[in-house]
Amino acid sequence: MSIRRAVLALAMVVTVLGLAPAAQAQGQPGAPLRTPDVIYVPTPPEVVHAMLTAAKVTKNDVVYDLGCGDGRIVVTAAKEFGARGVGIDIDPQRIKEANENVLKNGVGDRVKILNQDLFESDFREATVVSLYLLPSLNLKLRPKLLKELRPGSRIVSHAFDMGDWTPDQTIDVEGRTVYMWIVPKPGATK
Ligand SMILES: C[S@@+](CC[C@H](N)C(=O)[O-])C[C@H]1O[C@@H](n2cnc3c(N)ncnc32)[C@H](O)[C@@H]1O
Repeated sequence: MSIRRAVLALAMVVTVLGLAPAAQAQGQPGAPLRTPDVIYVPTPPEVVHAMLTAAKVTKNDVVYDLGCGDGRIVVTAAKEFGARGVGIDIDPQRIKEANENVLKNGVGDRVKILNQDLFESDFREATVVSLYLLPSLNLKLRPKLLKELRPGSRIVSHAFDMGDWTPDQTIDVEGRTVYMWIVPKPGATK
């Protein structure tokens, strides 16, 4: 077998066994804590603005972006809305990009970036949570959001809803949907 064919065959075995590079590298420095639940796709700036505006973010808010990517949502929340921000991502590459973004925009005094699995994170401090995940992840996260967030906190999601929890507001931004929910008092019907 030629070297080229041997390399191709090895690559196929790696793919079939599901040993994609990110998973293969787990546990090694610089690798994700585990395989991310969803790949990185950034939210366009106009949608970021619509999400923060729908949540009525002010300087009194603490905005958590669960799966923060390059940190654009928490950076914008700090820079343009005066809020504090916490970005959480499982992927160290995103953490690196988000920290660079924080530095570049001079918001290091108001924004923290944490390399964590969002399902393990404590976000009780948040008054606003932003999401761009998947419908199934929003649903999985819903009990934790309702348990940890105080009544009156806002949740904004780009593109994906939260099952039978009717949003308080739904906005179309150039063909993309933004959902906003206000966390109810315990016992109140959703
Ligand atoms: C679709 S991107 C959204 C990025 C950013 N929120 C935005 O709207 O521009 C989803 C992000 O979630 C991160 N992610 C996936 N699973 C995660 C998990 N279990 N915990 C934390 N972050 C996760 C990915 O690494 C990725 O950066």
